[in-house]
Amino acid sequence: MTPHEDYYAKRAREYEGIYDKAERQEELAWLRGRLPALFAGRRVLEVACGTGYWTQFIARTAAHVTACDINEAVLEIAREKPVPPGRVRFARADAFSPGGLCEGCDAAFAGFWWSHVRKSDLARWLSGMAAALPSGALVAMLDNRFVAGSSTPVSRRDAEGNTYQLRQLKSGETHEVLKNFPSASDLADAVRPFAAEAHLEETQYYWLLVFRLK
Ligand SMILES: C[S@@+](CC[C@H](N)C(=O)[O-])C[C@H]1O[C@@H](n2cnc3c(N)ncnc32)[C@H](O)[C@@H]1O
Repeated sequence: MTPHEDYYAKRAREYEGIYDKAERQEELAWLRGRLPALFAGRRVLEVACGTGYWTQFIARTAAHVTACDINEAVLEIAREKPVPPGRVRFARADAFSPGGLCEGCDAAFAGFWWSHVRKSDLARWLSGMAAALPSGALVAMLDNRFVAGSSTPVSRRDAEGNTYQLRQLKSGETHEVLKNFPSASDLADAVRPFAAEAHLEETQYYWLLVFRLK
């Protein structure tokens, strides 16, 4: 288990606290409507689904969601989410190896995962996902923008430009977590080899990148 995986396994039961931040409620409500509208009728591969917070909303309109995470601890919680019967399959899988996970999928979603991918691993992750889906598939990525006073401060930057935060669990344990805050041009550059058309929606706290695979 990598330090990142270990952190999310330990944080599983307290993870959804991030969706309680008062100042973010209006934007989260918008996203809870935006994602189901985007994926209506689609067969969706969701990577790094965590506790299934977004899965439950996407599943309301999608034809089917295959939701994967590397951590059994978060999948246990995800499996308790109220989802329409037969519409969601939760599976333990690595986001970097999505091949064969979702036959017939025509869409993909990753929530708050991009920011945890090392810059030097982005192309490997994106190309793996592109290879697992048909041309024309709809892809949406949702993640955080850095907002001083609301976001956890950045504690350091490494040689390749990845940034880190120090996060404390309720147990008192502190973990250093890789958390990148890509600019609009970083996002455009990263998806250019795979995206036929890309559109970035930015709110104060979040960004949502939507594109179709070449
Ligand atoms: C910030 S959480 C996002 C969870 C969920 N998508 C959400 O938006 O609420 C990141 C998730 O990535 C998972 N993860 C870490 N490494 C992974 C990997 N290599 N493949 C798949 N999931 C991974 C962690 O277990 C954690 O659940």
